[in-house]
Amino acid sequence: MPLPGLNGENLDELRMSAPAINISGFEKIYRARRRGENDVHALKPLTLAIEPGEVFGLLGPNGAGKTTLVKLLLGIVHATSGSATICGHAAGTTGSKALIGYLPENHRYPAYLAGEGVLSYFGSLSGMETSAVRKRSAMLLELVNMTKWRRTRVRQYSKGMMQRLGIAQALLNDPQVVFLDEPTDGVDPVGRREIRDVIGRLRNEGKTIFLNSHLLSEVELISDRVAILKQGEMVRIGTVRELTSSSNAYHIAVAADRAEEFAEAIAPFGPERIEGASALITADAERVNQAIDSLRARGLLITEITPARRSLEDLFMDIVGDNGGDAR
Ligand SMILES: Nc1ncnc2c1ncn2[C@@H]1O[C@H](COP(=O)(O)OP(=O)(O)O)[C@@H](O)[C@H]1O
Ligand SMILES: [Mg+2]
Repeated sequence: MPLPGLNGENLDELRMSAPAINISGFEKIYRARRRGENDVHALKPLTLAIEPGEVFGLLGPNGAGKTTLVKLLLGIVHATSGSATICGHAAGTTGSKALIGYLPENHRYPAYLAGEGVLSYFGSLSGMETSAVRKRSAMLLELVNMTKWRRTRVRQYSKGMMQRLGIAQALLNDPQVVFLDEPTDGVDPVGRREIRDVIGRLRNEGKTIFLNSHLLSEVELISDRVAILKQGEMVRIGTVRELTSSSNAYHIAVAADRAEEFAEAIAPFGPERIEGASALITADAERVNQAIDSLRARGLLITEITPARRSLEDLFMDIVGDNGGDAR
């Protein structure tokens, strides 16, 4: 079900045009308001371009500056220095706001409204015609798989349902760029999967998606690119594949019945970990070949040699550590 406003042809045009989000030296310092308080350097100067149709995941612990960056892009918070554009329009201007959808973190809707009512309410707030709101709501409720619950009051919704309704609300104005701030916070695994599916559908529609998260989940794994923010600074950026490949580590395994001999033979190569007849060693290609020679010299049958990948979660934990949070 294509969302109106984007089809194959003008999507191609969009892809060839300017970045969907172009950030140049964006920086934010929240000034201390009282004596005894310190300034908070929430975002260190950041330069970044996000392409049309890209799903971009911004990861980092609580307090890293993720929400600050989104609020700067929306024009809710003013930058201390730097600038940004959304599809060529300066961030914070009416022109850019018309192109944006936003799911705030911890959003609340009046508990007495049903899902459908929430969408009519926000639609009319944004000046849409009643009939247009009705048509679009029906389509969006379908998109986020909430049609069945459209007449149920939101007070009965699970967190996952609230988030899906929130995504529908963020799409009311048929935005080109959608900001989702902590879409999976407090959502159970099944709910997270449903949100991931919704994001996948939006990507197929050609939307640019910017998502913030302090939790790693499968949702981040569908991002085309991921950046990790720590204390206001972007410490890593790349595809999940780029970030998780570690150049110098290899898994080596031999036939399972020779575990003891294997442990002996591999010991001189300083394995990081040995599990039965397999080991993880950190070495360059030359040294890996020496290890192979040594194993073969003992007549061991090598069953596997693969470059090791770390999970994104390992990387995230390494970078973020115990106290990767607050920007203070
Ligand atoms: N309005 C504000 N005034 C002062 N400090 C703020 C304000 N908003 C956020 N901060 C501080 O800026 C830092 C980054 O916060 P935030 O952008 O909300 O991080 P995140 O979304 O990654 O959890 C935190 O130290 C937070 O306490
Ligand atoms: Mg936040």
